[in-house]
Amino acid sequence: MNGYRCFACDTEQAIDFTGFNCPACGGNLDITYDYAAIEPAFGAGKGMFRYEALLPCADPGALLPLKIGGTPLHRAQRLGASAGLDNVWLKDETGNPSASLKDRASAVALLRAVATGADTVAVASTGNAGSSTACLAAAMGLRAVVFVPETAPAAKLAQSLAYGAMVVAVRGSYDDAYDLCLRVCDERDWFNRSTGFNPFTREGKKTTSFEVWEQLGQVPDRVIVPTGDGNILSGVWKGWRDLHAAGLIDRLPRVDCAQAENSAAICRAVEHLREIGSDPDWRSVDIGSVAASTVADSISVDRPRDGLAAVRAVIESGGEAVTISDEEILATIGELASSAGVFAEPAAAAPWAAAKQLARDGRIGKDETVVLLVTGSGLKDVAAMPAGKPVLVDANPESVRAVL
Ligand SMILES: Cc1ncc(COP(=O)(O)O)c(C=O)c1O
Ligand SMILES: [Zn+2]
Repeated sequence: MNGYRCFACDTEQAIDFTGFNCPACGGNLDITYDYAAIEPAFGAGKGMFRYEALLPCADPGALLPLKIGGTPLHRAQRLGASAGLDNVWLKDETGNPSASLKDRASAVALLRAVATGADTVAVASTGNAGSSTACLAAAMGLRAVVFVPETAPAAKLAQSLAYGAMVVAVRGSYDDAYDLCLRVCDERDWFNRSTGFNPFTREGKKTTSFEVWEQLGQVPDRVIVPTGDGNILSGVWKGWRDLHAAGLIDRLPRVDCAQAENSAAICRAVEHLREIGSDPDWRSVDIGSVAASTVADSISVDRPRDGLAAVRAVIESGGEAVTISDEEILATIGELASSAGVFAEPAAAAPWAAAKQLARDGRIGKDETVVLLVTGSGLKDVAAMPAGKPVLVDANPESVRAVL
């Protein structure tokens, strides 16, 4: 890296800057690189650290023994065919150490924490960033404090507790937990890994794009991203832009934003901008907030904390902003699992719900190469899954015969 640039006002900071957000306007910061000086080759490091040349940290080696990233990309032929799509792929992030894509972000952020001499890392989370921070902090010998809404799914809380984090359940929403975490970090001088505010998380998340490019052997036509705060979306776009700036690819995919219809501040902002004109100034948008409510807890966000960077990603890439209902999201969990063998939590199933909607509306071509980002495991929220019931039998073959 060679410094920072504010998304909102373009003010730059030098590489030795130790703050988190823009001193001029409070906006989120983008980490910058001298692309011309980057050796456009990927090394032999473990998982996501193969891409050290485009990361703001060195391969941690023994400091971080877990393998993060290097997740599979599955072709989902039967699933795609069910919506008339020939080239659907699943980037399956469920196999990361804490079972979500967030581990990529935690890795880069926690290495930054170590580099700045921090011993306590705090994070506000709907659940996954917290369990991920707790997991990696445990592996690296750091103390973790996780602020979550008290309604966070039990499995995500159980993970954070098992990894030994202090879990602070806040009577309120994710947004309340977020603001509280900011205040306590200020008071205690803790390292704040929270999404959006911390510029390092985006850098980890972008490595998923590097992997998709290598695994597909080409740039896909579109990547569909489940979106709450918008940091995964902005990270995915950053990854493709990095590859382009480093001279490794000569075209860019569209990145599509999939949001729950009752938690859709980013989609709303994109639509608003597109109503204004064909080449809108994304910096001018007021993202505002909504009163979020969705079964997909990971993307239930009132005020997106990386909203501007996410809106930029959709506008610049020419992507779609798609809202889906909770019913559609829940239905797709079973479809992904039974047609492709991938069990996703509600948020992680949302890209497939969005793809089906785009296909129905003729906004995706049949032949387009579509990558769905499956961001977290269904085991994290089994209560949300509208599962059928097992068949109950007595312990004899006649009883089984009777139900077959
Ligand atoms: C599984 C999963 N998918 C998607 C998201 C949305 O990411 P972002 O809030 O960066 O938009 C999250 C965030 O918690 C998540 O845990
Ligand atoms: Zn600024």
